[in-house]
Amino acid sequence: MWADLQPVGRSAHSGGYRRFAWTRTDHDLREWFAGECTARGLDVTDDRMGNQWAWWGEPDDAARRGDKGVVTGSHLDSVPDGGAFDGPLGVVSAFAALDVLRDNGFQPARPIGIVNFVDEEGARFGVACAGSRVITGAMTADRARGLTDADGVTMAEALEAAGRDARHLGRDDETLGRIGAFVELHVEQGRGLVDLENPVAVATDIWPHGRWRLDFPGEANHAGTTRLEDRQDAMLGYAGAVLAAREAAISHGCVATIGKVEVTPGGVNAIPSAVTGWLDARGASPRAVRRAVADVRSMVEQAGGHVTEESWTPSTPFDPALSDRVRDRLGGVPMLGTGAGHDAGILANAGIRTAMLFVRNPTGVSHSPLEFAELSDCLEGVAALGAVLEDLAGAPA
Ligand code: GLV
Ligand code: MN
Ligand code: MN
Repeated sequence: MWADLQPVGRSAHSGGYRRFAWTRTDHDLREWFAGECTARGLDVTDDRMGNQWAWWGEPDDAARRGDKGVVTGSHLDSVPDGGAFDGPLGVVSAFAALDVLRDNGFQPARPIGIVNFVDEEGARFGVACAGSRVITGAMTADRARGLTDADGVTMAEALEAAGRDARHLGRDDETLGRIGAFVELHVEQGRGLVDLENPVAVATDIWPHGRWRLDFPGEANHAGTTRLEDRQDAMLGYAGAVLAAREAAISHGCVATIGKVEVTPGGVNAIPSAVTGWLDARGASPRAVRRAVADVRSMVEQAGGHVTEESWTPSTPFDPALSDRVRDRLGGVPMLGTGAGHDAGILANAGIRTAMLFVRNPTGVSHSPLEFAELSDCLEGVAALGAVLEDLAGAPA
């Protein structure tokens, strides 16, 4: 599976992946997912947002018995120049764990589902976890359809260009009603497991996090002939915001990042007439994050700019009983919190029993081509996921 995925959406320049929602690359990844399902005799269905689901067993028969399925999987899209593991490790491990269960002759008492969530990173349209947000109602269909990419293409237009009906988007209770428990396996995105003996951990919670757009107006003019005192340079306000975000994060004990910026008109010899930057802020305490963002907002407004909240995800504890059961099944592996967002968090906030497994990342680096996990640790992850699925799908309701 890794060999098939390895070239898809890989930048020859950076060695990282550029796998964005509803592009040709995304289409190829969806085809790959469908092919892996077909090879295992699993039918694939799309939900109202285009997330792909495959079931071993019949979830609707289970529903008639008053039972629900156990779902695993993750996403295949990436951040710009992302690593190979963030997302795909959870999907590849889902298929591999299913293969192990079948090889062992396991007969599930309830159906097991594998999901590929679309647009987890929000790299193209700006809102992370768009696939799970729409089907749970955390983002309205209208808002999703109207999101635009850097070229001004709306999500609705991108969906239509990919041969989909954008009118179909919306909350999908039929799909959600099939999920009794969701367990997402993911590469660890920090150094939490590096110094521990165990290659696998169970997640406790996800930090509250959000994204804000910072718009600064200015006036275009000649870089050589305009006196300094006559300039309205949008870049100066933006530069202040970058420093203010760092200061605010330090003083409130959270993290803040401005990792994306657009400059208009974008000429070396033209004073910027507009600058837009995107702030990502997270932390253990929602109050601390809110206070840090308020500090940045007041600086931006003093500079004549404007702040718009694009997304907010509250603190997300995973289901304690499910997480304890998963940890016990794995012989008491460590429990770790994370500052990274996941579709599992969106499902947990929608009231679905959800847990996560993390696989050791020896460098802690993620959202970078340097992201890595040892093959032996990945195989430990598959074994752990298989054991968890066997427990959750094998026990009586
Ligand atoms: C997703 O990976 C996020 O945490 O931004
Ligand atoms: Mn990610
Ligand atoms: Mn991910």
